[in-house]
Amino acid sequence: MAELSGKHLAVIGGSSGIGLEVVKLAGEEGASVTLIGRHAGRLDEARAALQHNGIVVRDTLVCDAHDHPALEDCFQQLAPCDHLVSMVGDVMGGGFLSADMATISRVMHSKFLTNVLIGKLAAENIRPGGSLTFTAGTGGRAQDACASYVGNLAIQALAQGLAAELAPVIRVNAVAPTWTVTPFWRQQPAEQIEQTRQHFASIIPLGRTAQLAELATAYLFLMKNDFVTGQQLAVDGGIMLGWSDKAPAA
Ligand SMILES: NC(=O)c1ccc[n+]([C@@H]2O[C@H](COP(=O)([O-])OP(=O)(O)OC[C@H]3O[C@@H](n4cnc5c(N)ncnc54)[C@H](OP(=O)(O)O)[C@@H]3O)[C@@H](O)[C@H]2O)c1
Repeated sequence: MAELSGKHLAVIGGSSGIGLEVVKLAGEEGASVTLIGRHAGRLDEARAALQHNGIVVRDTLVCDAHDHPALEDCFQQLAPCDHLVSMVGDVMGGGFLSADMATISRVMHSKFLTNVLIGKLAAENIRPGGSLTFTAGTGGRAQDACASYVGNLAIQALAQGLAAELAPVIRVNAVAPTWTVTPFWRQQPAEQIEQTRQHFASIIPLGRTAQLAELATAYLFLMKNDFVTGQQLAVDGGIMLGWSDKAPAA
C-alpha cells in the first residue's frame, strides 16, 4: 500500500461530512490537503479545525462545481495533486412519472455531467501514480429516486470508463455510501433525521447506519491500494442484498 505522507490530496466537498473526514484522516497520515466547496465560511471553519489538529491545509478554493466555467477556473488555481476526491452529487426523491424534468435534470447535471467534467479536468491535474475517487450512493430504487439511481449507475460507468482510459497512469474508483447522518441533511428537522436513521437501521442487514470513519477509510483504501481501478466500493451495511427484516424464529 502506498503511503499518503508527503502527498497532496484535493477534495471537492472537503469542508463538511464525509469529505471532511477524508481530509482529516489523510492529513493525519501526513498528506497536505486542499479543500474545495461553495461556502467560504464552511471552508474557513474546516481549515481552522484541521490546522488545530496539526494537518497541513495547502489551500481552500471557493467553487460551485455545478457552474462548469467556475469549475474550470478552479482547476486552473489547483496545484497538481496526487489524489483527488469528488463528493459532488445532488439527490432527489420520486419515480420517473412523479418527478418533474427540472429535478431529474438537476440531479443528472450534478451526479453525471459535473463528475464527467471533474474527470476531464482531473486527468490533466493528477500526477502519474495518483488516483481519482468519485462518490456514488446505494439504497435508493429507480421507482423511488429515479435520477439519483441513474446518476449513481452513471458514476459507476464513469469510473470504469475513465479507469480504462487513464490506465496505467491514474487509477479511478468510486465509493458508494447509503443514507448516513451528516450535515447533508442539515435542512431537515432533527426528529425527521432521527426517524430516517431508525428506518435505515431497520432495513440495513448490519442493523445500523454508518460511522463517518467507516466511509472515509474506504476512500483512503482506494487512494493507497495501487492495484485497484475501475471499481465501486459500496460501504452500505449490505442494504442492497434484498434483506428486509430479521427472519422470525422458526
Ligand atoms: N449523507 C448521506 O446520506 C449520503 C448517502 C449517499 C451518498 N451521499 C453522497 O455523499 C456526498 C457527500 O455527502 P455528505 O453527506 O458528506 O454531505 P455534506 O456534509 O453536505 O458535504 C458535502 C460537501 O460537498 C460540498 N459541496 C456540495 N455541493 C457542492 C458543489 N456544487 N460544488 C462544490 N462543493 C459542493 C459541501 O460544501 P458547500 O455546501 O459549502 O458547498 C460539503 O463540503 C454527496 O455526493 C452525497 O450525495 C451522501
